[in-house]
Amino acid sequence: MADTRAQWGSRIGFILAAAGSAVGLGNMWKFPYITGENGGGAFVLVYLASILLVGLPIMIGEILLGRTSQRSTVGAFRKLAPGTAWAGVGWLGVAAGIVILSYYSVVAGWAMHYVYLSLTGSIAGQSADTLNQTFGGLVTDSSLNLMWHTAFMAITIAIVIGGVQKGVERAARLLMPLLLLMMGAMLIYASTLDGFGKALDFVFGFHTEALTGAGVLEAVGHSFFTLSVGMGAMLTYGSYLKRDDDLVGSAIYISVLDTLVALMACLVLFPITFTQGMEPAAGPGLVFKNMPIAFASLLGGGLWSVVFFSLLTFAALTSSISLLEVAASYFIDERGWSRKRAVLTIAGVIFALGIPSALSNSTEIFGSDFAALTAPAFEVVGVEAGKNWFDTFDYLASNWMLPLGGLGIAAFAAWRVGGEARQQSFAAGSSLGKVKAFYLAWLTLLRYVVPIAIILVMLHALGALG
Ligand code: TRP
Repeated sequence: MADTRAQWGSRIGFILAAAGSAVGLGNMWKFPYITGENGGGAFVLVYLASILLVGLPIMIGEILLGRTSQRSTVGAFRKLAPGTAWAGVGWLGVAAGIVILSYYSVVAGWAMHYVYLSLTGSIAGQSADTLNQTFGGLVTDSSLNLMWHTAFMAITIAIVIGGVQKGVERAARLLMPLLLLMMGAMLIYASTLDGFGKALDFVFGFHTEALTGAGVLEAVGHSFFTLSVGMGAMLTYGSYLKRDDDLVGSAIYISVLDTLVALMACLVLFPITFTQGMEPAAGPGLVFKNMPIAFASLLGGGLWSVVFFSLLTFAALTSSISLLEVAASYFIDERGWSRKRAVLTIAGVIFALGIPSALSNSTEIFGSDFAALTAPAFEVVGVEAGKNWFDTFDYLASNWMLPLGGLGIAAFAAWRVGGEARQQSFAAGSSLGKVKAFYLAWLTLLRYVVPIAIILVMLHALGALG
């Protein structure tokens, strides 16, 4: 069976597909706005440290488990540790993929709506006030949210049914370079703005005064989300690698690309924000309210706007397919379902679960205030008052499911996999991986630093750290 499993066409194809999974709304939508909310500088530094010391080691471990087992997430644990409870880590990943995609699709739907608005010319050249209203109008419009959520899920389903290897690899090969080019061009433009210096200082200045304990832990949680680690997405993609493909080098490329796009997004958005005298802590609307302002002052602004929001949609798509693939591949690999049946069933569940997220900012559903109805229930699971369904899913995934999954993956790769097999696997096909000190550093991080960081995130989520 293992012989007939699909594989990546080339190493660069794998790197781009995995980077496509990593680079998404987390980089261009979430990272800038949580950086804005956490006061910049120090938050960014903690995030970078967490990518290097927590996220990257887990990513290496995750790809290693997939490549070694040649199985997707539940199957990998079953094969490497038959008859044990470790398969639960895989299960958690399947559940996390379902939860994340359900609200991810709603935000991706916003990006699609902005493509539509750009095409009809109602975005570029609008005032900050109008853009504010446009975004506010969108998130509270239940039928628009439902429609775009449906459309985005339909496209995700079509690609994953079509066979993810060819579709994903081909799409990522084209889209990732385009995205980098576009962000590079926007960065050059942003560097000519008055607010660029202030933005540089905001993002890279060491403003410790703005950083809170909650901010530190949010940065750690986000490093999981942005790298797509902790739920077996990288494991599943790694399972389509040949056993002698360079693992360490690939993981480094993926993390660097991911971090680059996140930082570029900040260095494009914040100069615009400061030049316009706007607030960096604008919340989830940041990228939707601020980018169009930049387009207004550019030659062919309408076209820039179409291209940018299309790329944002595509970035979301190369991520959403990896989220769906994890859950679908469980039913394909372990239950023997056809790809079509697995994808349609799981996607149906995800779609339904996304409906409350699509409606969560609406105040008028079936004649009642949906947000107000759900809020009390969420306080029970430790979500702050005033947070809605959408926020709750994001919180559950980032603070609980991914860190727990990451802990399981790290523990399994660092303690359970046989030492010699582990070291050989780490070194296979990789010049960096053959450096003993490098291997030991990775193992030490995975054994000690990663679990401590994750346990802190969870204690914080429980409110034990105040
Ligand atoms: N990393 C993606 C982003 O930043 C989201 C994502 C895709 C993801 N696949 C994942 C997050 C798997 C966690 C796990 O937008």
